[in-house]
Amino acid sequence: MRDLRTNSLAGELLIALDRAGSVPMHRQVEAAIRDNIRSGRLRLGTALPATRTLAADLGVSRGVVVEAYQQLVAEGYLTSRAGGYTQVAIGPGPAPAPAPAEPAPAPRIDFGYGRADTVHFPRAAWLRSARRVLTETPHERFGYLSGHGMPELRAALADYLNRVRGTAAEPANVLICNGYAQGIALLIQVLAKSGAKRLAVEDPSADDDCRPAAASAGLELVGIPVDDGGIRVDALERSDADAVILTPSHQWPTGAVLSAEARAAVLRWATRRGTLIVEDDYDAEYRYDRAPVGAMQGLAPDHVVYAGTASKTLAPGLRLGWLVVPPRLVDGVVAAKVLADRGSPALDQLVFADFLSRGEFDRHLRRMRPMYRRRRDALLHALREHLPELRPAGIAAGLHLVTRLPPDLDEAAVVAAAALRGVGVHGVTPYRIGNAGDGGLIFGYATLSERTIREGIGLLAAAIVEVRSGRR
Ligand SMILES: Cc1ncc(COP(=O)(O)O)c(C=O)c1O
Repeated sequence: MRDLRTNSLAGELLIALDRAGSVPMHRQVEAAIRDNIRSGRLRLGTALPATRTLAADLGVSRGVVVEAYQQLVAEGYLTSRAGGYTQVAIGPGPAPAPAPAEPAPAPRIDFGYGRADTVHFPRAAWLRSARRVLTETPHERFGYLSGHGMPELRAALADYLNRVRGTAAEPANVLICNGYAQGIALLIQVLAKSGAKRLAVEDPSADDDCRPAAASAGLELVGIPVDDGGIRVDALERSDADAVILTPSHQWPTGAVLSAEARAAVLRWATRRGTLIVEDDYDAEYRYDRAPVGAMQGLAPDHVVYAGTASKTLAPGLRLGWLVVPPRLVDGVVAAKVLADRGSPALDQLVFADFLSRGEFDRHLRRMRPMYRRRRDALLHALREHLPELRPAGIAAGLHLVTRLPPDLDEAAVVAAAALRGVGVHGVTPYRIGNAGDGGLIFGYATLSERTIREGIGLLAAAIVEVRSGRR
């Protein structure tokens, strides 16, 4: 009778025992291990199971395994180690680590997220500012920095934000950070130190920046549903939150604009309870069809932290962001910034200050707005033509729009079918925090030409037909 058993060498080593045959058991075990070593299946350095374990696995007495191991030690196949274990003594070394999995191929047409088109980064103007800064800045300005940021940039930003976004910013309250991602992380640390326990966020929203920071500061994150008028203030009032992060000018991802009544109600909530509003004004510079909505910070500078970034206007790789904070929070945020990295790079700040104060930032935005608008219009047109059932929302501003999906279409199936056709599009569901809602698709359009947008929507329409017909 042949008896094939796997033993405990990761369940991979097969030892065939012929219990009815004339070859003694210890010889059979010995031969099987020898074969495994010769074939390279057992590699140099592999530890064999304890004799008792292998004997139990094989259903033989321990003496059978002891005798087999001793013979193989004598032949030089195995070696006995201090500590009582037996190791393979010859052959090739451990198998090389498997090659890292290939990253998924980038989609050929990527509607992902809503990024600035860095092809149009204003290199020439930036270079002029960089040259001026390098030529004119005294050496002593290249020393260690304060956690506030360079005074030139803080003054230039205060001017710009008060003029364009209606903030009430003083250079003393403007702090420079490495993008919004660092700004929110610093604020969360300060909030936690001041005793905050619960942080409200819009649901859906991108919580990848604030979630890890909240977790490490011990703050509970609570998702507050968003509807067509922005965050649901009734739910915020019930949440017992100590602070809320909002994208009031263009909610990410739904594109909703916080209504005037809701703004007033959120501000009343913050004033009454002494809580803090963080206003993430990430893409407010892009308005296409209507007058811009001013920043909330201008209405209640003591209760609102304004957070801005160059990621959507210039390039995310610059890692330039800024906060306008109530005076009582300045020292705490500066201390957290010093602890984090001793301040953002001086040269980049000075270059951006020069760029801003010479009007280059305004010029760049004036150039980009009509281009993004044309791309948005191409997207709206293509959706109307190929997918009229997908109703776009949040179209008036920013670099992305969103469409709800009809109930018969599964969001994940549509995203997967589009990916197979080389089209990258995000679903809304991965950005839901805790409240269920309709499926939807997010279309970032800023980095795609009008032709590519039309082609991408055509391919998406074909993918949706495929999903509907049950082929995917
Ligand atoms: C909602 C939102 N806020 C802020 C940012 C900017 O982040 P950062 O300045 O860290 O690049 C983004 C970037 O994509 C975003 O989607």
